[in-house]
Amino acid sequence: MGLLPISIQNRGLSLTPFLITSPPPYFQLLSAPKFTHFSQISGNNFINCLPSRTQRSSVAVRSVATEAAASPPAAKMVKAIRIHEHGGPEVLKWEDVEVGEPKEGEIRVKNEAIGINFIDVYYRKGLYKAATLPYTPGVEACGVVTAVGPGLTGRQVGDLVAYAGQQMGSYAQEQILPANRAVPVPPSIDPKVAASLMLKGTTAQFLLRRCFKVEPGHTVLVHAAAGGVGSLLCQWANALGATVIGTVSTKEKAVQAKEDGCHHVIIYKDEDFVARVKEITSNNGVEVVYDSVGKDTFEGSLEVLKLRGYMVNFGQSSGAPDPVPLSAIAAKSLFLTRPSLFHYAATREELLEAAGEVFANVASGILRVRVNHSYSLSEAAQAHTDLENRKTSGSIVLIP
Ligand SMILES: NC(=O)c1ccc[n+]([C@@H]2O[C@H](COP(=O)([O-])OP(=O)(O)OC[C@H]3O[C@@H](n4cnc5c(N)ncnc54)[C@H](OP(=O)(O)O)[C@@H]3O)[C@@H](O)[C@H]2O)c1
Repeated sequence: MGLLPISIQNRGLSLTPFLITSPPPYFQLLSAPKFTHFSQISGNNFINCLPSRTQRSSVAVRSVATEAAASPPAAKMVKAIRIHEHGGPEVLKWEDVEVGEPKEGEIRVKNEAIGINFIDVYYRKGLYKAATLPYTPGVEACGVVTAVGPGLTGRQVGDLVAYAGQQMGSYAQEQILPANRAVPVPPSIDPKVAASLMLKGTTAQFLLRRCFKVEPGHTVLVHAAAGGVGSLLCQWANALGATVIGTVSTKEKAVQAKEDGCHHVIIYKDEDFVARVKEITSNNGVEVVYDSVGKDTFEGSLEVLKLRGYMVNFGQSSGAPDPVPLSAIAAKSLFLTRPSLFHYAATREELLEAAGEVFANVASGILRVRVNHSYSLSEAAQAHTDLENRKTSGSIVLIP
């Protein structure tokens, strides 16, 4: 008798006792005693060591296929947000879509929380090009595995996983994912938090730890310091021993940025941030600027850098910066980079290392994840409107 195809809405039942091998480092760091069931672990197949979530014990069995099941299962329909044409938030349509069975190397995940990111706005507007139209947007989510593709030994229906990636499609109740882009979520982390961390947290990780390595004694400037990524950057940079200067648009956001470890907060809508940074640093400038605002801040960011400083432009919420002549960076022997998470979490190892560090920082209290806004999935258009109008702070999640 072979394995039966299973279609179970499993919220944490441990179905099989697994071979126990040593858990990966960040799980040891977190709540090791809870991770007592692991299937085999091999370098590239980390998803095999998904923890059984026995603590989430509500089990709703929908159906179990019989051995003799001959005909293919009926198409499964779910609700999703679809984009048929580029444009404003109104192009986000609430529709029924078919979610198929996972193929080799894939898993199907029922999303519990979906992260909204500014990159979703770039794609919606057509600034970044989606591979197809229509498409389901979204690059970050956390959910429960409902089916695994053939050959994925040890991957479990019922495991909680999170993902961030270029394969879009997270604005859906359920979606198919490449298994190697999903990471297991430690039981101590709430799905809403995980859905706010996979993209934003791993972005903060590569920016602070790899793109430019922040060290004690550095002074760093973080634009949009109260945003989803900005909030995490400020907390983490502070913990690394840097002096953190943050810019925000309102007094309310300034309060949050202070709480998140900014030693100095500049309200850049009212104050000239260049003059203020020079004043704060006694004209010495900063080692690095993390600039996700782009057009409105780019030139000023170059101006406040020290000799041999790092200009890290990682976004363009105000628009794309104007082209930069080489002479603009030659003036102080500056370094200029325009990095993307997708190039820093390109391999499975890089993804796991980044996610591990982020989860460990949440567990140890270094990072407090601010899930400040929650909308139902059908209200994605309103969430986009609020994000674009700078009404949000911290992370935004959609709940299916
Ligand atoms: N390169 C990468 O791999 C990567 C990965 C993740 C995110 N990102 C980038 O990181 C940035 C932050 O992403 P997020 O999702 O966390 O968004 P967010 O920071 O929560 O929201 C964007 C913020 O940008 C600020 N902003 C300044 N000028 C703006 C304008 N004209 N319109 C709208 N917002 C403006 C606003 O903060 P104030 O009101 O305080 O000005 C706003 O809240 C984005 O630019 C995103 O593209 C890049």
